Amino acid sequence: MTRFSDKVVTVTGAAGGIGSAIAMRFAKEGASVVVVDRDRDGAHAEAEALRGLGLRALAMGADVTDEDAVAAVMDQVVATFRRLDILVNNAGIGETDTPIEQRDSGEWNKVLGTNLNSVFYGIKHAGRVMKAADNWGTVVNNASVLGLVGFLRAPAYTAAKHAVVGLTKAAALELAPRIRVVAVAPAFVRTKLIAGLEEAVLPLHPMRRLGEADEVAPLIAYLASDEAGYLTGVVYPMDGGYTAR
Ligand code: NAI
Repeated sequence: MTRFSDKVVTVTGAAGGIGSAIAMRFAKEGASVVVVDRDRDGAHAEAEALRGLGLRALAMGADVTDEDAVAAVMDQVVATFRRLDILVNNAGIGETDTPIEQRDSGEWNKVLGTNLNSVFYGIKHAGRVMKAADNWGTVVNNASVLGLVGFLRAPAYTAAKHAVVGLTKAAALELAPRIRVVAVAPAFVRTKLIAGLEEAVLPLHPMRRLGEADEVAPLIAYLASDEAGYLTGVVYPMDGGYTAR
């Protein structure tokens, strides 16, 4: 599989969970993958594991809520590889199950900063370096089914993911045709993000099971591939039927 040979792919939140599966998928298909995570040791371990398989990977520690850090990552990617072809804005966090009237703005701002602002910073600086390097590219944003429908007691997460869908559309209009911007909307995927929620959310999935990170990664790879060259500004659910009802 060499769909992405000669391509440079940056994946945020790639030290674990879905991001790790995405990094593995692109690397196995020939890409040079930049593993970005605020968990610096985890990012290095992930990149080392990929290199151990004979794949191309580099780690960069960065907190994606910090615009300067995101800008520096994109600059460093282009300084290293002379190009950036694909950015996957994947890093994200959940929120505590608290009634709205008891919530403080600290957690609200943290969830919005991590799940939404980071996507804006990624699009902004990936777009900048893609243009400067004179290459075309694709940005894939990892939204959620909670970017399409509501969820009890997850207002910040739901608001952030709905905004990611809106940002995907707005950025796609502005950056076409040079940069395609698309999003995916997975239902609940078995990672540490949803630890403890598995049983409660299972009945929401008509397929009677949760998703796996390895099922999200191929969809993202397809959307970032040349075969999807006419797709932009769209959001793809991958949800075991969650949004069908
Ligand atoms: P996870 O918790 O397993 O992995 C998230 C990764 O992002 C971790 O390695 C973490 O260190 C990193 N990260 C968090 N904040 C960061 C920051 N500020 N800067 C840099 N890195 C940061 O979570 P999971 O499940 O893999 O989620 C990945 C994405 O998929 C998130 O955007 C999440 O909202 C989305 N998603 C997850 C679903 C699920 O059920 N697990 C369903 C739908 C979407």
